[in-house]
Amino acid sequence: MPAKKIDGKAYAAGLRDRIAIAVKNLPDQPTLAVVLVGEDPASKVYVKNKIKFTIETGMRSVEHKLDEDVSEEEVIRIVKELNADDSVDGILVQLPLPKHISENRVIEEIHPDKDVDGLTETSAGRLSLGKPGLRPCTPTGSVMLAKDALGELSGKNCVILGRSILVGKPAAMLFLEQNCTVTIAHSRTQDLQGVVGGADILVAAVGRPQMVKADWLKKGACVIDVGINRVPHPEKPGKTYLVGDVDYKPSLETAGSITPVPGGVGPMTIACLLRNTVLAACMRRGWDEPDNLSF
Ligand code: GUN
Repeated sequence: MPAKKIDGKAYAAGLRDRIAIAVKNLPDQPTLAVVLVGEDPASKVYVKNKIKFTIETGMRSVEHKLDEDVSEEEVIRIVKELNADDSVDGILVQLPLPKHISENRVIEEIHPDKDVDGLTETSAGRLSLGKPGLRPCTPTGSVMLAKDALGELSGKNCVILGRSILVGKPAAMLFLEQNCTVTIAHSRTQDLQGVVGGADILVAAVGRPQMVKADWLKKGACVIDVGINRVPHPEKPGKTYLVGDVDYKPSLETAGSITPVPGGVGPMTIACLLRNTVLAACMRRGWDEPDNLSF
């Protein structure tokens, strides 16, 4: 039987609907502030979508669009201003930042209670210690999709391929929180194929196009492909297309369920960012957390 396609686009749309309902029932509108520096085309598209969905789910959007040559001090001044602004619940600084600005310094200025990307040291520490806090969006979306496909995750062997700060490491902590037995595999892992072959759940986040082959997978595995790689089109000269870290088509014959690229994990990132904005507002303003946003 071919694998079930995990429709992240549909799941994300459903989550946004739930967020919109939750927002309607809150005492006040949550606010997300977005800081975009420069003209990176991909970043501009992300930010446009973030703003669109913030408004569509009934929240307030604040935008700071800054020139490419803005100083680090000015970006930090704006972040501090947003920290101090009681009407702002979430702060997102779109990455990457131009080379002359330290991403680390800017991110660390975000107040942890407004850190809707879950990227500050405090957020990482809270996750690692199992304390309440804001969790990174793409890893959270990955857990949601795995849970939707499999139901209970407890006791499953989960292999995370990749150890990035943005995805791999936090994903490992989040699947551990779901009582999975977690293995983090990476470029130095011995017998990578054997390790992947033991996975009930595989989270591929290495950024290497179609690196994981269909015959590496355990029969019936749940495959969460976080990779978004642009590669030359094999049949259309001069054209490119997107592929994941897993060789999708042949894997439909071995996996039990699998996310496509695009349309899998990708749409979950923004939906989880909106969810974090609601959670941040609830935590900071002492409101009850909506019960339709748990997973
Ligand atoms: N750039 C690409 N993805 C992301 C993301 O999830 N958050 C931020 N802040 N920047 C990004």
